[in-house]
Amino acid sequence: MTPATLARRKDFLSVLDFDARDFERCLRLAAQLKEDRGLGRHAPMAAALNGRHVALLFEKPSLRTRTTFEIAVRELGGQVVALQPDVALGQREPVADVARNLERWIDAIVIRTFSQRLLGEFAAATRCLHVVNALTDEEHPCQAIADMLTLQQHLGQLRGRTIAYIGDGNNVATSLAHAAAMLGVHVHLASPEAYQMPAAVVQQATSAARYGARLRLFSEPAAAVTGADAVYTDTWTSMGQESEAEVRRRVFAPYQVNEALMAHARPGALFMHCLPAHRGEEVTTEVFESDASVVFDQAENRLHGQKALLLMLLAPAHLIAD
Ligand code: CP
Ligand code: NVA
Repeated sequence: MTPATLARRKDFLSVLDFDARDFERCLRLAAQLKEDRGLGRHAPMAAALNGRHVALLFEKPSLRTRTTFEIAVRELGGQVVALQPDVALGQREPVADVARNLERWIDAIVIRTFSQRLLGEFAAATRCLHVVNALTDEEHPCQAIADMLTLQQHLGQLRGRTIAYIGDGNNVATSLAHAAAMLGVHVHLASPEAYQMPAAVVQQATSAARYGARLRLFSEPAAAVTGADAVYTDTWTSMGQESEAEVRRRVFAPYQVNEALMAHARPGALFMHCLPAHRGEEVTTEVFESDASVVFDQAENRLHGQKALLLMLLAPAHLIAD
């Protein structure tokens, strides 16, 4: 099968909706879109989504994801439909009914909500509506596209590299582990015992791993970081867990990414964070502001990665043929 005949996916609810070839295709497309962006309305893909409508529905706060999806749709020539959270998925009417209404009007929807299961129900209720996960409690696959693009642009070849994730085994960690393993990047994880990535996710990432990538769990952050090309962390308290913040601050304190921890990584290792960051908690100001930090490249790459994703889901195949 040539890249031009890659299967078109209906939804992107999880990194695991892609295989390694889809993901690599998405990264190539994203890099090209990044290069072309300066051409503005003369960019080759500036009209690719002409006449297409993409709805955005956010049930949790967002700066990066919402802004970059809006810009992505507009820069590809499509129309954004901003839905209000009072749509209240599953409360005002069954989730499947919301999906089946929207399917009659629009081409795709980008949803940030709580439950991955509910998102799956929404997607399964429609035959043609493309559904994109803009973060659930369990996964954040669009973040992982930007993360892999950033890693590739800073390190060159991804295969054989090592990324260490220090902190909560949460949605961001899950999608990062899926994506890294699929692209041949070794993953080292260090989390407090009660906050480790679910065993099922470790299993999924291990099964998705390609090109010899290995996933390893560590109890000591320093051991996880040793030999890493990049060190990644995220907030200790995710959206929806605010009542646990105090306990979490105590439990996660030994997992802070600071200069002493970074010193165990490879010389020149990158610091990564999906943002928003909490200086003095999961990362110190020194590391966040250091030359190692590529956090705003990750934020920028949200745009290019999501444009590529939208094209892979929505654009006519000949437009994005390799
Ligand atoms: N990283 C990320 O998803 O940021 P937002 O919550 O601001 O969208
Ligand atoms: N783990 C964080 C990521 C925010 C982008 C959360 O879910 O709040």
